[in-house]
Amino acid sequence: MYVKLDNQPLTLINADLTIEFLTPTLLKVHELNGLLTQAGFKAEEEQLCALHERRLLVCGVSELTDENLRSAMSSAIKTAMNYSYRSVKLSPYAQHHFKALIEGAILGSYQFNSYKSAPKEITLKEVIFSIDDIDGVSLNVDDLTSILEKSRIVAHATNFVRDLVNHTPYDMTPQGMAVTAESLANSHDLKCTILDVNGLEEEKMNAMISVGRASINPPRLIHLAYKPKNPKKVITLVGKGLTYDSGGLSLKAAASMVTMKMDKAGGCAVMGIIKAVSELKLDIEVHAFVGAVENMIGGNAYKPDDVLVAKNGKTIEVRNTDAEGRLVLADVLGYAQEKIKADYIFDYATLTGACMVALGPYTTGVMGHNEELKQSWLTASEKAGEYCGILPFNRHLKKLIKSDLADVCNVSSKPYGGAITAALFLDNFIDDNMKEKWVHFDIAGSAYTESAWDVNGYGGTGAGVRMTLEWLLKLQKQGNN
Ligand code: BES
Ligand code: ZN
Ligand code: ZN
Repeated sequence: MYVKLDNQPLTLINADLTIEFLTPTLLKVHELNGLLTQAGFKAEEEQLCALHERRLLVCGVSELTDENLRSAMSSAIKTAMNYSYRSVKLSPYAQHHFKALIEGAILGSYQFNSYKSAPKEITLKEVIFSIDDIDGVSLNVDDLTSILEKSRIVAHATNFVRDLVNHTPYDMTPQGMAVTAESLANSHDLKCTILDVNGLEEEKMNAMISVGRASINPPRLIHLAYKPKNPKKVITLVGKGLTYDSGGLSLKAAASMVTMKMDKAGGCAVMGIIKAVSELKLDIEVHAFVGAVENMIGGNAYKPDDVLVAKNGKTIEVRNTDAEGRLVLADVLGYAQEKIKADYIFDYATLTGACMVALGPYTTGVMGHNEELKQSWLTASEKAGEYCGILPFNRHLKKLIKSDLADVCNVSSKPYGGAITAALFLDNFIDDNMKEKWVHFDIAGSAYTESAWDVNGYGGTGAGVRMTLEWLLKLQKQGNN
């Protein structure tokens, strides 16, 4: 499906169907008010009404906000896709809503059919935006074109991440992630370095190796680099790439194991982000590191009671092999900081079920030491249409991961605040000079869904991609001043 701009007012554009968003107030003054009201349409939030003989699809929104329009656009596209329309047209509403509508269209029309033997054929090929707002006032074509180009890149990167996450653990092994990274590097002028187990041993990444030891699919460390000529800043992104999390010897219960192919979502997100960064040609150097590992059981599995030595020399008492993501991240964070001296380091991980308990299934947990920096992420996520919430550190929680045997324990001694104690564990692997420049994102809830919400259908959501690109675009703008 192709989203494009037609340099004409809406009425002059040829398309099979027109999409309109109506608030109750707009409905009252609509020329088809009588017909729509008769059909039971009240412009309630998420209410859709198709007048096929008029080639019109109307969607209710309480107010014309980005959040409402993005979600309504996604529902409208899904509805249009159920019929045999080939093209739809609509107004960008206002320049500042255009991005939300484009993203709603591209994210809402996403389908993952790799495992369907006979996927349903979709006839809808084009979403055409006019250049007039709803009052008929002509908008600036150059501005609209630039918004369209950027939003397309961001939305397609999100769908790219969804595709990766949705692949089965059989198809998307650590080596599968590495091959994907290599082909991304070839098509996008990125540099790609892959470490296999020998490389990990040389780098003394004992924690990551231990997590992957019982799997027939050996771990891979992926490093993708985007290096523009005169970068204004250097950013490191680290992603948890557990291609499957069975829990290891602390085996998950059957019901909680299902969906654990999504435990690679953080790693997939950083690959999608760097893809978009290179397409947007940002003047920011970006490094994406992925710890791609499978957490399995077997005679050589790592065990509760083991003590692991991480890359930075710290020792870790393992009391639960299902708290494996933090072990992998400990090493990858250590490696990333040693290799790249960055201005900021951000990590993305489906790290804890506790994050979902704390914030619900839609919201990404934001943790770190720098209040201003965390706040900048809340602003970016809100603009981008993702939900974020800050989970605060405190010194009492820090004590809960003390170990009597080693430097730190991989699980907390108390059952509450698990998202924060996990982040405080990671803090042990952040160098002193990076403490204020680090943010950890727990995307355990936001990265995957089994029931559609907002612009997300069943499966991976691409959490982290839109908000990070928003944050980076802002950084790029600040650098220009
Ligand atoms: N990958 C899981 C976290 C997770 C749970 C992500 C549910 C998405 C949905 C992680 O590796 C894990 O198992 N964490 C444990 C930690 C516990 C053993 C301290 C958890 O959350 O139960
Ligand atoms: Zn786990
Ligand atoms: Zn995990």
